Amino acid sequence: MSKQVDRLMDFLQKSRSLVVITGAGISTKAGIPDFRSSSGIYRQGGVNETLFHIDYFRDHPDEFYKTFGPLYEQITSAQPTYAHRFLKRLEELGRLKMIITQNIDGLHHKAGSANVIEIHGHLRQWDCLSCRASYGTEGWIDEKVKKGETPLCQGCGGILKPHVVFFGEYVMGLEKAMQFVQTADLLMVLGSSLVVYPVAGLPGYRDENAHFVILNKEATPLDDEADVVIHEDIDETLQKLGFL
Ligand code: OAD
Repeated sequence: MSKQVDRLMDFLQKSRSLVVITGAGISTKAGIPDFRSSSGIYRQGGVNETLFHIDYFRDHPDEFYKTFGPLYEQITSAQPTYAHRFLKRLEELGRLKMIITQNIDGLHHKAGSANVIEIHGHLRQWDCLSCRASYGTEGWIDEKVKKGETPLCQGCGGILKPHVVFFGEYVMGLEKAMQFVQTADLLMVLGSSLVVYPVAGLPGYRDENAHFVILNKEATPLDDEADVVIHEDIDETLQKLGFL
């Protein structure tokens, strides 16, 4: 094992209060593209952050759903990766206190993790922009969104928005996330470019004695602050640790 992996193993064995921040890179092995790497959604042409801005969504819901349909299909059929299952195991062992995820794919839930803050929301709820009615994932919504069509409220005909945080909206559970980061003796970031705030600012709240680890294929702006940085595939790194 490399020195970096040895150090990570040592941190994990000693940690009693692990907090993990996850981003799109933890789910690429499940077939869901990330945003900013060479095969990411923003690098495929035509899609940029504007599509995920609340003002754009309000003005162009049909265009949003046309582009989002295929991605929704990929997300809803995806299964948890080794890394998702690894985190669930650490929670079972009583070591992992909280996962703070930017992902809306629900894969931590699918893996069975209970302590998850979905800071950018999730796709298990749909909210009417007009009358504020809420729906769970019902068959007709699922079918429409997969076809790239705009789902409408059955009560008032308003546009349904997935219960996710668009740019221009407040994130969910930020205060709780900050509190968990403050209490961590080990903070790990898995698969995030760490450029989108406020999540990119969360590591700044860690205790000065906490260890800080980044597992991400590409460099991030916080690499210099971390005790361990491994620029490799997350699953391959975690498999070397052998917790599962
Ligand atoms: P990004 O796409 O910005 O970053 C994902 C990172 O994961 C990249 O740096 C990849 O190199 C890395 N990566 C991909 N696959 C990997 C693998 N198998 N092993 C290791 N590393 C891997 O995604 P996020 O940081 O999650 O927000 O993006 C943050 C937010 O930007 C998203 O939540 C979304 C987006 O715009 C909203 O839409 C509001």
